[in-house]
Amino acid sequence: MSVPREERSLPTAGTMTAVVRDRYGVNALELRQIPRPELSADGVLVRVRAASVNRREWYSVATPLFARVFFGLRRPKERVPGVDFAGTVKAVGRDVTHVRPGDDVFGGRVGAFAEYVCVRNAVVREPANLTFEEAAAVPIAGLTALQGLRDKGAVRPGQRVLVNGTSGGVGTFAVQVAKALGADVTAVCSTRNVELARSAPIASSTTRVRTSRAATSATTSSSTSRGADGGRSRLAC
Ligand SMILES: NC(=O)c1ccc[n+]([C@@H]2O[C@H](COP(=O)([O-])OP(=O)(O)OC[C@H]3O[C@@H](n4cnc5c(N)ncnc54)[C@H](OP(=O)(O)O)[C@@H]3O)[C@@H](O)[C@H]2O)c1
Repeated sequence: MSVPREERSLPTAGTMTAVVRDRYGVNALELRQIPRPELSADGVLVRVRAASVNRREWYSVATPLFARVFFGLRRPKERVPGVDFAGTVKAVGRDVTHVRPGDDVFGGRVGAFAEYVCVRNAVVREPANLTFEEAAAVPIAGLTALQGLRDKGAVRPGQRVLVNGTSGGVGTFAVQVAKALGADVTAVCSTRNVELARSAPIASSTTRVRTSRAATSATTSSSTSRGADGGRSRLAC
């Protein structure tokens, strides 16, 4: 169904509220009014409903010295931090056909800690069974797992995949992507996080937890300096 012309060309001039900074550090973050992004011919203007804080935001905001090579030596190149977002399409450029105004979408765009983002390719429709908050937690970590296992690793059905750090952002998706690709997955995490790892949708129906002494000690060598429980567990998914 085609979208009426007037909806496609919703005016984008005006201001919006955004998290802005001129220097590094959490204390430099301020809520300010800044110009709303311009809608380009190949762009999708999204009203952001949820944005997630990823590991990248730590690099981009706290920014240890080595990370300044990428994020700006003296001051942040990205005035508005944030990348992962979910929201509702307000307007689309004339060349855009895969989403339309009113669609709930999620994706990635630098500057997501703001009321609006204008994004080109990295935006897709949101599955109906996800909340905005859930969808906003997916993009970077999910893509990292997908690229690693599917694109670079070329994982095939029946192969065995070990996910070390399955309770983390990338690991949560890695287990599910590997399972979806048909792999035989063994997932490792701290014992305290076993229930969290088991709760991943695709893992929950098939996961057997191995918490025997032998299984735990088999994976303890990589974690001797780890947290309070001191043990790591291996889950066969
Ligand atoms: N998040 C992203 O979008 C993203 C994108 C690109 C690259 N990366 C990289 O991918 C890696 C994981 O990122 P993440 O965001 O998933 O991190 P995270 O959410 O902090 O998770 C870290 C995971 O590593 C495990 N872990 C921590 N210390 C460990 C140790 N000493 N031995 C074994 N396991 C240990 C943790 O398991 P337990 O707590 O259960 O022990 C947890 O499952 C990082 O190197 C990150 O830079 C992340």
